[in-house]
Amino acid sequence: MENFEFNNPVKIFFGKGQIIQLQNQIASSQRIMLTYGGGSIFRNGVYDKVKSALAEYTLVEFGGIEPNPTHETCMKAVDLIRSEGIDFILAVGGGSVIDASKYIAAAVFQEDPWQILTGAAEIRQALPLGTVLTLPATGTEMNANSVISRKDTDEKLAFSSPEVMPRFSILDPESAASLPQKQVANGIVDSFVHVIEQYLTYPAGAPLQDRMAEAILTTLIEEGPKVYANPADYDAMANLMWCSTMALNGLISRGVHEDWVIHQIGHELTAFHGIDHARTLAIVLPGVWNVFRTEKKEKLLQYGRRVLNIESQAEDQAIDQIIAKTIAFFEGLGISTRLSAYGVPADTIQKIVDRFNSRGWLAIGDRGMTTPEKVREILTTRL
Ligand code: NZQ
Ligand code: ZN
Repeated sequence: MENFEFNNPVKIFFGKGQIIQLQNQIASSQRIMLTYGGGSIFRNGVYDKVKSALAEYTLVEFGGIEPNPTHETCMKAVDLIRSEGIDFILAVGGGSVIDASKYIAAAVFQEDPWQILTGAAEIRQALPLGTVLTLPATGTEMNANSVISRKDTDEKLAFSSPEVMPRFSILDPESAASLPQKQVANGIVDSFVHVIEQYLTYPAGAPLQDRMAEAILTTLIEEGPKVYANPADYDAMANLMWCSTMALNGLISRGVHEDWVIHQIGHELTAFHGIDHARTLAIVLPGVWNVFRTEKKEKLLQYGRRVLNIESQAEDQAIDQIIAKTIAFFEGLGISTRLSAYGVPADTIQKIVDRFNSRGWLAIGDRGMTTPEKVREILTTRL
């Protein structure tokens, strides 16, 4: 096992009725900016619950944060924070609203905030923030990450800083009961692939981390179809919500090797074609496993045995079956796994290869195996 450091200070309030906790978590003297997306919080009652919990507070609202939140929208919130003298951000929504709020919280203290995404600016300070999660998927409610897009350059980049970790997150499965099936499917697949990116590399002599990862994968396979069939099934939604938080709160990656190339390639598909984040992952994952089937063999077979119950047979045959069964899991949730299903033309592959080259991403991920030419190979298998 590799050496590691672990510190996750995000306080979690989980379960029915927990939104009321807001009034115990934010000092009444704070001027709060409430951030939200396109309006789902008004239709499902979450806004009313937040307002009644914070009836005695000064709230300034900032709505209209779009899925795959943009730098351009976030800069409008930064202006509002400066003019209103805001000292706390409360993000109410899914990953996009929370990620945007993290970026806004840090951007207030930067001259050229986009440099946070390029890696040129260091985050020394951020406004405190808390979250009310309405879509289990990204794990952002309990991690230091944020992913921001830029309209004028078609870019989508991530940053990470302990300064933007939420002070608290409220996870009430009832807040997610109104999700359309499509977003539930996205949440299941995004959480699943988060675990894969931290698990499916090569053995690190860390059986506890392996078994925690396998427990999340198994639970997603068992509970996912139930919550997909009925997002108002409280118990199934509670299980999905806790799985997605546990999938990316830093715990399962301690002491092991990570990859993240499925995400890095997937972000480019969203940047160029606007495909939902989770769907890009479902497209790319089978390509990565096919191309690196020898290098990732040990963990692929372990996952096959322990999670999919695929017992010993010729290795290559077992790996084919593992890939096919994983694709069937995604497709059973209504998620297509081919580029053609999303109308992505073959020339997008060259554009993505060029981007990897121009960013200097020449040997990334698991053992530095993913070169721009491997990216071409991976995507070509997914046409
Ligand atoms: O905007 P509103 O009206 O709220 O509607 C949203 C949006 O249209 C809707 N929604 C959310 N909660 C709902 C609801 N509709 C009905 N009932 C509810 N309870 O769902 C739509 C999608 O929301 P969004 O926040 O975009 O989805 P998600 O949570 O999947 O977040 C995706 C973003 O997170 C990033 C992705 O790249 C993408 O930009 N990620 C962030 C990560 C992180 N910070 O750690 C890791 C992930 O790998 C991911 O990259
Ligand atoms: Zn993801």
